[in-house]
Amino acid sequence: MDEPSIMALADLATPMAIRVAATLGLVEHAGGAGATADDLAAATGTPPRILRRLLEHLVTAGVFAFDADSARYRPTPLGAQMGTADVKRLLDISCAGGRAELAFADLLETITTGEPAYPRRYGCDFWADLDADPKLRKSFDAQMNWRFREHAPRIAEAFDWGRFPHIVDVGGGDGPLLIEILRAHPGVRGTLLDLAPTAAAAAERFAAAGLGDRVRTVAGSFFDPLPAGADAYLLSDIVHDWDDDHARTILAQCRRAAAPDATVLLIEPVRGHGAHTGIDLFMLMCFGGEERTLDELVELGAGSGLVFRGAVPVTERRLALEFGVESSCP
Ligand SMILES: C[S@@+](CC[C@H](N)C(=O)[O-])C[C@H]1O[C@@H](n2cnc3c(N)ncnc32)[C@H](O)[C@@H]1O
Repeated sequence: MDEPSIMALADLATPMAIRVAATLGLVEHAGGAGATADDLAAATGTPPRILRRLLEHLVTAGVFAFDADSARYRPTPLGAQMGTADVKRLLDISCAGGRAELAFADLLETITTGEPAYPRRYGCDFWADLDADPKLRKSFDAQMNWRFREHAPRIAEAFDWGRFPHIVDVGGGDGPLLIEILRAHPGVRGTLLDLAPTAAAAAERFAAAGLGDRVRTVAGSFFDPLPAGADAYLLSDIVHDWDDDHARTILAQCRRAAAPDATVLLIEPVRGHGAHTGIDLFMLMCFGGEERTLDELVELGAGSGLVFRGAVPVTERRLALEFGVESSCP
């Protein structure tokens, strides 16, 4: 058998062609019946002779099929995946996820310097970029919901959240996890803190779910003092977005806000416990963050005045890590 070609893995023409096709909505424009290159060019405002070359490569890649009799391009079952909103959002260059992936083009600088590529490419960090563009922000929140659509109810069931009458969800997004925790544990009330547009989206979502009287939303930053005195401070997929210094600051804010016998809970992908190497590289490239080992997370907590109590798996890819608050810390 022939050796597999490294070029099949390293070729950039095909992934970029697919991402451009998703951004232009070629699958949606073609529909099940297919469309000619001229029709697709008119629908997408692209020059027909240029678009045809993209389509020809998409045929080579097995994403579209070309019918010579009708001169129509139809999405194959593989290509049709691009027409679903959740997949399209990951590939579309005008959405947060697709835009961030493009910064992988600067991975060499990240590997050479350790600095994230995203700010280098776009002139500001990921979160500031989202703040400046509501479409990016919305697409990111939707992506976060999609990635937790099956996991959030499982995490809500897999852990005894009922021990904590009041949980502050720190950087809780528009509420995908807290909403499931509140549904599964009627005795719990919550506070969700996130950046302003996402906190506003969370408030709407809680109200629509009939949970408005059990949850408060706060627009703010987790680098500033947090709502004080809660029983638990939850950080779900937060710590891995940040380098050690920033992560320690966030953890220290939780410790300062927490009541003396309160708990700080991390839901995190943990290296050696299901964390994915590709996501680790994305965290480095986009944020300067990382998927850490359990020991590294315990040490990070200790550096912020948190005492590790234990960890349990809550999904195949994430652990819940429980920390107590060291009362002697300022
Ligand atoms: C990876 S998402 C995780 C969202 C949510 N915890 C979840 O698991 O679905 C990271 C969240 O951190 C929020 N965030 C980023 N910087 C923040 C800051 N300085 N203060 C508060 N939230 C912030 C983002 O808006 C985003 O909702």
